Amino acid sequence: MAQLFSPAATTLFRVVIVLLGLGVVAAGAIAFVWARSDSTWNVGKPAPQPVPFRHDLHSGSLGIDCRYCHSTVERAADAGMPSAQTCMSCHSQVWVGASVLEPVRSSFLLGQPITWTSVHRLPDYAYFNHAAHVTKGVACETCHGRVDQMPKTVKTQTMSMGWCLDCHRDPTPHLRPREAVFSTGYEPHGKDLPEDVRMFYQEASRRLTSCSTCHR
Ligand code: HEC
Ligand code: HEC
Ligand code: HEC
Ligand code: HEC
Ligand code: HEC
Repeated sequence: MAQLFSPAATTLFRVVIVLLGLGVVAAGAIAFVWARSDSTWNVGKPAPQPVPFRHDLHSGSLGIDCRYCHSTVERAADAGMPSAQTCMSCHSQVWVGASVLEPVRSSFLLGQPITWTSVHRLPDYAYFNHAAHVTKGVACETCHGRVDQMPKTVKTQTMSMGWCLDCHRDPTPHLRPREAVFSTGYEPHGKDLPEDVRMFYQEASRRLTSCSTCHR
């Protein structure tokens, strides 16, 4: 039987097959890197805010406790956001007429909350709970970074499902004594944890990684 395709066509066909194969691998690799890259998750990107509030000034220099403004963080799912009244407890005395504080003053007078833009909001189908973490020794700093040094609030971790699971498989290296949950620059001593806490998390990791823990 006569040859259906010339040798040149056969070679070309082989080259195309190999290139297609390489293309699929490259696309896979790009998708893999993309899904894990910080920029995909807006890590380090601030959001526009109605007032140029600064954590570095208020928490860092002035040393105001996180709970003064995020008052439900130890007892509820939401950390809670400060009301205009919380700001006015000081700003009725300092920076009184400042134009940057105009949205705070009008919210205060109208009794309405200030509309901050969240840089952390999870999709509705994912459930998170602050109290569950903070009371078990997971620090603000572990998930939010050095907020006390931020002129503009940004995410320092992806907050992706993979990131949650990385810790839930074995939280022990990240745990601190409860009194160190609000401190910054603390190095957790996972290795020094009491044996019963370790044992507890060996058991608990099955529950902590099951879908219904975070998707209810
Ligand atoms: C415990 C007191 C206190 C509270 C509560 C407080 N502030 Fe301040 N804030 C200050 C002081 C003091 C300064 C001025 C620091 C300076 O001039 O160096 C300041 C400065 C500011 C500035 C100007 C920052 C700059 O230098 O550009 C803004 C904006 C501001 N605060 C917003 C807020 C908002 C919004 C809230 C509520 C969420 C708030 N503050 C709560 C004490 C406070
Ligand atoms: C004086 C009030 C005040 C104090 C004290 C304060 N915060 Fe905030 N925090 C705010 C305000 C106002 C916002 C919203 C504006 C912004 O994102 O910068 C905010 C936003 C945040 C966000 C981002 C929320 C989101 O939805 O993305 C985190 C995380 C946060 N604060 C953590 C902390 C931590 C940790 C501390 C203690 C080290 C702290 N805050 C202390 C007022 C405060
Ligand atoms: C285990 C990680 C983790 C820890 C620990 C943690 N946070 Fe958060 N934080 C998150 C996540 C995730 C969100 C987004 C929650 C959502 O959208 O449901 C968030 C949201 C916030 C917000 C926005 C308001 C809200 O509740 O949605 C504030 C403010 C905040 N955190 C402050 C704090 C402070 C202060 C601490 C320490 C006392 C802290 N967080 C500890 C992960 C953490
Ligand atoms: C650095 C470690 C760490 C990270 C990151 C983390 N968690 Fe947790 N999480 C814990 C620990 C520790 C507990 C407490 C487990 C216990 O003792 O019951 C917990 C408990 C929970 C609980 C309550 C479980 C229950 O049955 O009571 C939920 C819900 C949860 N985490 C969701 C999340 C989500 C969603 C994320 C990511 C956005 C996340 N966590 C990130 C360590 C972490
Ligand atoms: C520790 C908490 C946690 C557990 C356990 C968990 N998830 Fe998630 N999941 C999340 C968070 C947080 C997101 C949202 C991430 C984002 O911002 O897009 C998410 C997102 C998703 C999405 C949306 C697509 C995606 O990848 O972003 C799917 C589908 C999903 N989860 C399925 C599951 C299944 C199936 C399981 C059980 C095998 C599971 N999840 C267990 C926290 C969790």
